Amino acid sequence: MRLIIYTGKGGTGKTVSACSTALKLSSLKSRTLLVSADPAHTLGDALMMGGEIGGTPTSISTDLYAAQVDPVAEMDSHFKTIFSYFASYFQAKGIDDTISYELAMLPGMTQLLCLLKIEEAVRSGEYDVIILDMPASGEALRFLYFPKLVGSLSMRLSGLAGLVSGFGRIFQPYFSGPALSSDLMKTEADLLHKLEELSKLIFDPNVTSLRLVANADSFSMENAKRTLMSANLYGINVDLIIINKIMPQIRSKDSFLANWVALQHARVTEAKSNFYPLPVKEVPLYNEELRGIEMLKQNAEILFGDQDPSQVFYRERVFEFKSDGSGLTLKLKVPFTRNADFLVERISDRITIKVATKIGYVVNVIPLPAITLGMKLKAAQLSDKELVISFEY
Ligand SMILES: Nc1ncnc2c1ncn2[C@@H]1O[C@H](COP(=O)(O)OP(=O)(O)OP(=O)(O)O)[C@@H](O)[C@H]1O
Ligand SMILES: [Mg+2]
Repeated sequence: MRLIIYTGKGGTGKTVSACSTALKLSSLKSRTLLVSADPAHTLGDALMMGGEIGGTPTSISTDLYAAQVDPVAEMDSHFKTIFSYFASYFQAKGIDDTISYELAMLPGMTQLLCLLKIEEAVRSGEYDVIILDMPASGEALRFLYFPKLVGSLSMRLSGLAGLVSGFGRIFQPYFSGPALSSDLMKTEADLLHKLEELSKLIFDPNVTSLRLVANADSFSMENAKRTLMSANLYGINVDLIIINKIMPQIRSKDSFLANWVALQHARVTEAKSNFYPLPVKEVPLYNEELRGIEMLKQNAEILFGDQDPSQVFYRERVFEFKSDGSGLTLKLKVPFTRNADFLVERISDRITIKVATKIGYVVNVIPLPAITLGMKLKAAQLSDKELVISFEY
């Protein structure tokens, strides 16, 4: 079983990449489920199937199913007990009925329900590959880490039940809320168990691959780099970078167009060294909006050619962090071997590495985890294509 997750900055092409991957996989006879965490009807729009895709897996073609998480239906069928409990808490605080249901729908609830949907699909054993179209990067990662966090925290805190009943216990002294029923406890224990099972899969590099989609601009690339750093920090395997919507190398007398083409191609070159040693796939900007099954299938050929999209394209960590009492060590793989070739500088929450290459200097900017904010850069040493940067308090 494989779980392949697409994330990246808004509008970069997560949904189309996820759809293309799913279409190609099903043509290779892998039983594929395409799931979107987006409550808007994006899968239906991309596949041009209108409102036919709902909460339960809908058959698209042979071996391909798609589902769009419907938070209301999902909440109702699985977690009504918990949902009503939250709502009754807000009601006990004197908050209006209608609003209390709105509030009970905590931020990120859709993503959480989406994870539970994935767990359900995994458990059914009906699919070889599940493709998840996640929202923009930062959010997505936090939610992927959530099962692990909740699993360990709540188990540690109270042995079994923790999430909701913990919430109940915290607020009990301040206002009278509804009693914790055994039904509620059971639903909660069930929820925690599911999240724990899912957590095991998310952190297994043989099962889960996170793929980052960016465009040929510095904003979405920076976003992808930060996600890569965080994913490595969390321990979620990133196996592929997709740079989408690259303008073709057309010769144009129009300086506006020529400028954009030159700028984008410089960004692509930069990305290849910045994301080293991760494989980077390039996808052109088509002359029309990328949508519809036929066009998405053609896009899959450009993305994967004769490769199986379910393979693990890369399995190691690009960044490795180790912290001890005196500071933190960051190890990262670099495409150079001589000390004379690079210069490392720390600028607030990032490290810049200036590397001499055949085509001049290339600058790689690496976002740093928040823990290094109070630390100083101590040293940077090269050993066997690995750069070891140490920070101290
Ligand atoms: N290579 C391409 N060529 C032409 N149009 C493209 C290409 N890739 C994506 N598009 C178009 O760009 C728009 C955004 O794509 P998509 O919805 O896949 O992005 P997204 O990252 O999922 O966005 P969101 O953050 O809103 O979920 C769509 O209209 C899509 O058809
Ligand atoms: Mg999308």
